[in-house]
Amino acid sequence: MPATILVGTQWGDEGKGKATDLLADHMDHVVRYQGGNNAGHTVRAGGQTLKLHLVPSGILYPHITPVIADGVVIDPKVLLEEMDELAARGIDTGRLLVSANAHLVMPYHLEMDRVTERYLGKAQLGTTKRGIGPAYADKAARIGLRVQDLTDEKIFRQKLEVVLKEKNAILAKVYNRLPLDAEEIAGDYLGYGLRLAPHIADTSAILHQALRSGRRVLLEGAQGTLLDLDHGTYPFVTSSNPVAGGALVGTGLGPKEVDRVIGVTKAYVTRVGSGPFPTEDEGEAGTLMQERGQEFGTTTGRRRRCGWFDAVLLRYAARVNGLTELFLTKLDVLSGLPRVKVCVAYRYGGQVFEDLPPHQSIIHRAEPVYEDLEGWGEELTEARARDELPPAARKYVERLGDLAGVPVATVSVGPSREQTVAG
Ligand code: IMP
Repeated sequence: MPATILVGTQWGDEGKGKATDLLADHMDHVVRYQGGNNAGHTVRAGGQTLKLHLVPSGILYPHITPVIADGVVIDPKVLLEEMDELAARGIDTGRLLVSANAHLVMPYHLEMDRVTERYLGKAQLGTTKRGIGPAYADKAARIGLRVQDLTDEKIFRQKLEVVLKEKNAILAKVYNRLPLDAEEIAGDYLGYGLRLAPHIADTSAILHQALRSGRRVLLEGAQGTLLDLDHGTYPFVTSSNPVAGGALVGTGLGPKEVDRVIGVTKAYVTRVGSGPFPTEDEGEAGTLMQERGQEFGTTTGRRRRCGWFDAVLLRYAARVNGLTELFLTKLDVLSGLPRVKVCVAYRYGGQVFEDLPPHQSIIHRAEPVYEDLEGWGEELTEARARDELPPAARKYVERLGDLAGVPVATVSVGPSREQTVAG
């Protein structure tokens, strides 16, 4: 049974949680493959609203095994707090599997994320300050501590001592901060290890076996294509690979295991943090999107920047992810706009770019070339079939699919499961 990958096609916050929620009925495993608690999704459980950052949303379904795979960076304190909160609401977390190979976010990563951002001043990235970049940097530098180290006190202490010596020197001498205490960190982390031990597993082998025995596996990306370390708007990106290729590296599965790649795309575009955003609208339309779409970050509460749909980005996402279908979200938010604009190309220096320009400076300065489409006044939240959408909304959906060269398989017109238009 081949696996399905679900990715964001923009700068994150496309509404991937809703897509995962709908797919959950047809899945046996839901897997996080990259990122950490910089991500966030809001889930409704037991009549209450819950914000999850690390635990895959599959946790809410008793038939699903939620997996945090090798490519994720884990702040164990945050993970345990989330598990406690879920347990307090009567949700069983016993099925959660955590890869022994996943790297740990350590207290010095949080500290480094804060101080380096401050030092960058105006050039800062606007990170979530969850220590994600520094944790991945240490992984690449081969001085990271992994989940498996939590279960071997001697090794954990040895590695921590070596790393902390350097980190403390940097924190004190470069950033004028107080050094961190190895004993305190070891005490806390080894305690987390004791609690996490029953969940630690060889998740790559488990997923491989699951696919062999006909189980259905969903590999769920966090953030989005344009935040990808290699394929996004570098340096205004996160430090992992949200693209579909990252799902293979981050889980230890081979390319032949996957036959479906769903691109989740919002009916307009948002971005949190710094970086280029050619279709950003700081006027009335952007304000409407922000307010009607409740565009505030789940993790940091920051107001998201909003703008018109960008088909240049979508075409790019279709290419770098090998998308097989689109899941369009939040179409209902655009109701009430007399005209809706779709960016079909960028213009810069007398040249027109239909694909993402090869140089980052061009993306910063490019002017969007817009196609102007008729808007719709009607609310869409009650629509359940394509022909229940007003003609202008239907045309908008068809145009996005045509521009991407990928079919729009599903359209979401509200947060609940039922508010979905398929086919
Ligand atoms: P970091 O991932 O905390 O290092 O932040 C790097 C960039 O990615 C910043 O612009 C963040 O706002 C952005 N980012 C990280 N995670 C998310 C997410 O889940 N949604 C949207 N943006 C994100």
